Amino acid sequence: MQEKITAIRAQAVQELQEVQDLAQLDGFRVKYLGKKGLITELLRSVGQLPRGERPEIGKEVNVLQEEIEAGLQARKDALTRQALELRLAAEAIDVTLPGLPVNLGRRHPVQQVMEEIQEIFIGMGFAVAAGPEIELDYYNFTALNIPPEHPARDMQDSFYVAGADEVLLRTHTSPVQIRVMEARQGALPVRIIAPGKVYRRDDDHTHSPMFHQVEGLLVDRGVAFAHLKGTLEHFVRQMFGPDTQMRLRPSYFPFTEPSAEVDISCVACRGEGCRVCGHSGWLEILGSGMVHPRVLATVGYDPAQVSGFAFGLGVERVAMLKYGLDDLRLFFANDLRFLRQFA
Ligand code: DAH
Repeated sequence: MQEKITAIRAQAVQELQEVQDLAQLDGFRVKYLGKKGLITELLRSVGQLPRGERPEIGKEVNVLQEEIEAGLQARKDALTRQALELRLAAEAIDVTLPGLPVNLGRRHPVQQVMEEIQEIFIGMGFAVAAGPEIELDYYNFTALNIPPEHPARDMQDSFYVAGADEVLLRTHTSPVQIRVMEARQGALPVRIIAPGKVYRRDDDHTHSPMFHQVEGLLVDRGVAFAHLKGTLEHFVRQMFGPDTQMRLRPSYFPFTEPSAEVDISCVACRGEGCRVCGHSGWLEILGSGMVHPRVLATVGYDPAQVSGFAFGLGVERVAMLKYGLDDLRLFFANDLRFLRQFA
C-alpha cells in the first residue's frame, strides 16, 4: 500500500508537469480525483485494510489527495494566466501597420443640385430662408388663399398628423413665403429663396412621397411680371446652359395671379422633339406667378402699394433633366453604384 502511494505521487507529479492546457488538466483531474479515479480507489481500499493500519495509511492517502488538489489548482492558475498573456499579445496594437483608408462620403446629387440652384439666386441678391417641415394647415393652405374645401387641396394629397387635423407635413415650400412675410412685418424688400423637403402621398417613377423644392419670393414696390421673367431666364441659362430657351404658359395657382408654368427647351434634343420631351421640344420645370393680392393682405402688406412674384421648382425634376435620368426613385434607393457617379 505504501509503495502504491509513493508510485501514484510520482506519477501524478510527472503527469501534472506534462499537462499543456485546461482540457488536458481536466482529464488529469478525472484520472486522479474522479469517481473511478486513482485516489478515490485508494481511499476505498483503505477500508479493506486491517483495522490497525487504517488510520496511518488513511492519513497518508489524504495528504496525497490534498497535494494533488493543490497541484491541480496551481497548474490551473498558471495555464489561465498563460492563455490571457497569449491573448493580450495577439491583440496588442502594432503601431507600425499601415493605416486603414477612411471612406470619404460625398454630397448627394439632389443636395448638389439644390446648392447649385441656391448659388444662382444668391448671386442675384436672394437670401436663404427656412421653415418647418411639420406645418400648420394655416400656412400650408389657408394663408396661401387655399381655404378649406378648395379643390386645390386635393391636388396635393397630404400626410396629416394623427389626431391633429390642423397639422400636416408641408406639401410644398410655399408656406415659407407666408412665414417670412409675417416676420418682416411690412418691411421691404422681401427677397428670399426657401429650399427644403416636402411631402405628398405620391409614389411612382416620377413621384416620391418625399422630395425637394426651392421656393422663391420677391416683394417690393413696383415689382412687375417682367422682373419674374428676367429672373427666371437668368436662372435657366445658368442652370441648363446659355442657349436654353424659356417660355411661359398661362396656368393657375391659388396664391398667384396671374400664374404661369415655365418650360425650357428640351435638354435632350434642344427643342427638336424627342422621347424625353414627349416630342413637344419643351420641358416643364416650375410654377410661378405674381403674388395674389389676397396673400399680400393676409400678411399685412398693402396690395395697392407693393407687389411681388413667386415661383416654386422641384429639385429632383431639375436633377433628372440635368443628368438625363428617367426614374426618380434612383435618388432614394441608396445604391452606392449610382451615388458614386456624382463626384
Ligand atoms: N407650390 C406649388 C406646388 O408645389 C409650386 C408653385 C407655383 C410655387 C407657383 C410658387 C408659385 O411660388 O408662384 O405645386
